[in-house]
Amino acid sequence: MLGPSQPVVLHLLDIPPAEKALAGVRMELIDAAFPLLAGIVTSVDAAEASKGVDYAIMVGGFPRKAGMERKDVMSKNVAIYQSQAAALEAHASKDVKILVVANPANTNALILSQNAPSIPKKNITCLTRLDHNRAQGQISEKISKVKDDGTSIFAVSSKDVRNVIIWGNHSSTQVPDATHATVTVDGKAMPAKEAVNDDAWLEKEFVETVQQRGAAVIAARGASSALSAASAAVDHMRDWALGTEDKDAFVSMGVFSDGSSGYKEAPEGVVFSFPVKCSGDGEWEVVKGLSMSEETSRKVAASGAELVEERELALECLKG
Ligand code: LMR
Repeated sequence: MLGPSQPVVLHLLDIPPAEKALAGVRMELIDAAFPLLAGIVTSVDAAEASKGVDYAIMVGGFPRKAGMERKDVMSKNVAIYQSQAAALEAHASKDVKILVVANPANTNALILSQNAPSIPKKNITCLTRLDHNRAQGQISEKISKVKDDGTSIFAVSSKDVRNVIIWGNHSSTQVPDATHATVTVDGKAMPAKEAVNDDAWLEKEFVETVQQRGAAVIAARGASSALSAASAAVDHMRDWALGTEDKDAFVSMGVFSDGSSGYKEAPEGVVFSFPVKCSGDGEWEVVKGLSMSEETSRKVAASGAELVEERELALECLKG
């Protein structure tokens, strides 16, 4: 995540009922003899786990269960993020970089930010790289060939698909957008629209598949995404810390919308997924001025409106 020669000290936080399992995880980490593992702190105390951390990946959240309303989940997660925010605020490194993975990821990140006022807002982000990677994967699969023996061979790998965008919320209102994406086929970069050669698919099936992928994984596995979410979290942090691939490449990150992005669809004061470039010194900036169709603009604004609604609900829960 931080490069091939950067040693790391892992701080692992879990809830008290999982303390024994956490000890098992610690054993396995030692047993794996990872060459870059320079230390392990395991704890069920958020303050202890937060001490001096430079990068925090926040995966803890209450999952929605049968019979629960959105508001029930929101109020539980608001409480979790409020207390973890306090621990990070008091004990993490002053320049800690935070990635929130647990849902509702954008709003959890916002609550964390509001409750950790000394941590710069630009240092608190949420994961939409998972959706970004899904979008790359869909395009790669679509234009790849399937061999006669049924083995899927990706003629175009995901890494050959660049500059897709995820706008808005990490929810089914998110807007996967391939308008500015390119695909390299046989060494030649071309617009994704040309490589895919199926506008109807790009406008409908592609968008819906990415929007619904989290739910589809849950339906298939009986549990939400794990491998792909972890891999996306690593991608997010790596690019943030070390920089996006090159000066023309961008990725999607949920970041604080302060009104300076130039995209009228993104409301101020929410954590919103934008195309961003990372310079390699721990800074990101929104890629400005990308064109959007009227239809995309309408959908992105709807995702923004959902984030405002979530923010109001979260604030209501905090008051209660
Ligand atoms: C995902 O996108 O895979 C998850 O956010 C789905 C979920 O609700 O846990």
